[in-house]
Amino acid sequence: MTASSHPNPRQKAPTELSSLFLLLKDHFQTLDQFLSDQVLAFEPEIRDIAAYCLENGGKRIRSALVFFSGWEEGPLSPGLVRLAAVIEMVHLATLVHDDIMDKADLRRNRATVAKKFGPDTAVLLGDALFSQAVHLATDFPSNEVCRYVSKSTRRVCSGEIMQTLRDKELNSNIESYRRIIDLKTAELFFVSCYLGARLTPFPSEYADAAGSFGRHLGTAYQMYDDLTDFFGNEEIIGKTLGTDLVSGKQTLPLLMFTERVGSEKSEQARRNILNGEPDAIQQIAHQMTDLGIFEEMARITEKEIFLATEALSPFKDLPPSTQLLKIADILRNQIKALKSE
Ligand code: IPE
Ligand code: IPE
Ligand code: MG
Ligand code: MG
Repeated sequence: MTASSHPNPRQKAPTELSSLFLLLKDHFQTLDQFLSDQVLAFEPEIRDIAAYCLENGGKRIRSALVFFSGWEEGPLSPGLVRLAAVIEMVHLATLVHDDIMDKADLRRNRATVAKKFGPDTAVLLGDALFSQAVHLATDFPSNEVCRYVSKSTRRVCSGEIMQTLRDKELNSNIESYRRIIDLKTAELFFVSCYLGARLTPFPSEYADAAGSFGRHLGTAYQMYDDLTDFFGNEEIIGKTLGTDLVSGKQTLPLLMFTERVGSEKSEQARRNILNGEPDAIQQIAHQMTDLGIFEEMARITEKEIFLATEALSPFKDLPPSTQLLKIADILRNQIKALKSE
């Protein structure tokens, strides 16, 4: 099947990730089909809207974590596919909602649901996606998946809520930043790895280690994403960048920026983006590099990736760990590549 006739074209992952994900070609094809089939679960009147996002996948990092942490020789287990679909749908719902709050126009290389169908529809579609994900999770033999996924979903939403509330506080700090990214991003990475591992015959200690790997990796991933908001290229990344400063998200690079240049200059930088000044974001990125913020962020993120690999080290010889550790390496390289983009 050619890429263009594929039912669920995915956003292109960065090259190294794509090569690793070749191992998951069949897994992803099965997952894409599963997600496309989910469109029929929605009421006929809104199927077009559901299809709009369900049939336009992202990089599938969380599903890759599910497949790799549950990695086994032999035929692909339907349970892993269902779990990957549940987590992708929760993730998708959070993105649909997040784009409303961030007033973002572009997601996965096309108009956000809020932009195309309006924010009211986006709120409710996000809710419907969450609900359908939990519905799918009820189909496992035990209620473990449902219990973990619903709890994680609540925690993701809490992180997004806190971020909104915290925007209004003057004293944002690294502790609250860490708390928020742990909830809004690391949580879903945790649950992908933990539950993927729980579907293997390996001991529960391996699932705990995989979960801890996922949590640290997710923290690092959000830090990387927060750097991308300034250092990334919108065409490559496929989503609106520069929204963190505009929407008042106190990400770590921004906290460092404001601390170093003062709130007046930081506010001026925000106005420059809002006024659509050309190169406004690149200018901030340059300043961040000059101020050593990129290097410091890279160092903090690297430490988180190190903690992820450490967590997995007692099980490093298990087949799933080999694959998971490769994702950690790739994230490391992506951060380096960001500097030269
Ligand atoms: C975007 O996640 C939200 C963050 C946690 C930074 P991804 O970068 O995994 O988005 P998709 O799924 O590939 O679109
Ligand atoms: C991550 O935060 C969003 C969620 C975890 C829901 P961001 O706002 O940084 O994500 P992007 O950059 O819009 O993908
Ligand atoms: Mg956003
Ligand atoms: Mg972001």
